[in-house]
Amino acid sequence: MSDSTRNSNKHIKLFIPGPTEVSPDILNAQTEWMIGHRMPECAELIGRIEPKLQQVFYTNKRVLIAASSGTGLMEAAVRNTVGKKILNTVCGAFSHRWRQIVEGNGIANDVLEVEWGQAITPEMVVERLATGSFDAVALTHNETSTGVTNPIQEIAAAIRALPNGDDIMILVDSVSGLSGVRLEFDAWDLDVALTGSQKAFALPPGLAFCAVSDRAMAKAKSIPHRGYYFDFLLLDKYLQKNQTPATPAVSLLYALDVQLDRMLAEGMEARFARHLAMRDSAIAWAKGHGFQLLADEAYASPTVTCLANSLEINIPALNAFLRGRGMIISNGYGAKLKNKTFRIAHMGDLQLTDMEELFAAMDAFLAG
Ligand SMILES: Cc1ncc(COP(=O)(O)O)c(C=O)c1O
Repeated sequence: MSDSTRNSNKHIKLFIPGPTEVSPDILNAQTEWMIGHRMPECAELIGRIEPKLQQVFYTNKRVLIAASSGTGLMEAAVRNTVGKKILNTVCGAFSHRWRQIVEGNGIANDVLEVEWGQAITPEMVVERLATGSFDAVALTHNETSTGVTNPIQEIAAAIRALPNGDDIMILVDSVSGLSGVRLEFDAWDLDVALTGSQKAFALPPGLAFCAVSDRAMAKAKSIPHRGYYFDFLLLDKYLQKNQTPATPAVSLLYALDVQLDRMLAEGMEARFARHLAMRDSAIAWAKGHGFQLLADEAYASPTVTCLANSLEINIPALNAFLRGRGMIISNGYGAKLKNKTFRIAHMGDLQLTDMEELFAAMDAFLAG
C-alpha cells in the first residue's frame, strides 16, 4: 500500500507513550495473504519469530505470544504464579494496575507504595519481603505515568539474596520499556517479563509477549485454576509446536516478523543507546526552558520523559498547536498528574531528528 492510499495527510507523528509510530513497511507487512493457524506456513512464521523474540528479551527461555494488549499478560502472570500472596510495588498509575488486577482475581496482596515520581528501591522491596509471607512480587520496569525506570536488575538481585529468594516469583511489567530500555531476562534471573507490541516495539497494538522462567513454569503446575486463554502451560505446549492454542493475530505476526528483523539489524545495544540519546535530548530541552523532571534524573526513563508543568503552560493548547504541525505529545496521566505534568515519549523507531523537529515546534509554541 502506498502512503497516498493510506491517507497520509492524516498522519500525526506520535510522541505519546503508545501506540507509537509504525513505519510504512511494517504497516504494509500486515497485508500479506491470510493463512490458517494450523497451516505449516503459520508454524514457519512463529518458528521464525520465536528465536528473534528471545534475542530481544535476552533469554533462552520461552517467550509466549498472546493476542492481547500488555494487560492480558499482567493478568496471566499473577494467575499462573501466585500461590500465597503478592507484593505490589506502586510508583504510579500503571504499577497501580498490578494491584487492580490481583484484587480483581481475588489474590491475597499487599502494597508497597512510594510517592508518584519516585523509584522503587531494592532496600524497600527486600524489607517488605523479609516478612516471609509473600511468594511473588510485581514490579514495573518503566512507569509510563511518571517517566521513572525502576532498577529491576538490582531489585531482582536483592530478592534472590534473601534466604527464601528462589521461592519468590519476580514479575516484571516492561510494557513501555522492553526493547527501548535494557532488560536481560536470564542474566537478571526474572520469572515473568512482559510487554506489548504498541510501545518500544513500534508495532500496531494487539500483541503481547512474555518471557517465562522454568521456575515460573514449575510454579504454574502447582496452581490449580490458571484460567484457559492465558494458561502458561497450554501456551508453552503449543509454542513448542510453533503454534498458539487459540487463533493468533496473524497479520500482526507478519508485521512482528519484519520488525524483529529491523530491530536486530539495528542491534539491541544501538537501540538502547538511541533511546538514551533521545531521553537526554528531552531532558536538555526541558532544562533549557526551566521545566523540572518529575523523576529523579538518576531514574529518568529512556522511553518517556514526564515534566512537571512548572511554567503552567496550557497543555491542550500546546497539543492543538502541535497537531497543526502534524505531531502530538501526551498530557499527564490520570487525575493526579493531568495538566500538572506532560509527557514526551521517545520510543520505538523515533530518531533524534524527530525529537529536534518536535522541540522546534514546542519552541515556536512557547515563543507565542
Ligand atoms: C507500564 C505499563 N503497564 C501496563 C500498561 C497497559 O498496557 P496495555 O494498554 O498494552 O494493556 C501500560 C500502557 O500504557 C503501561 O505503560
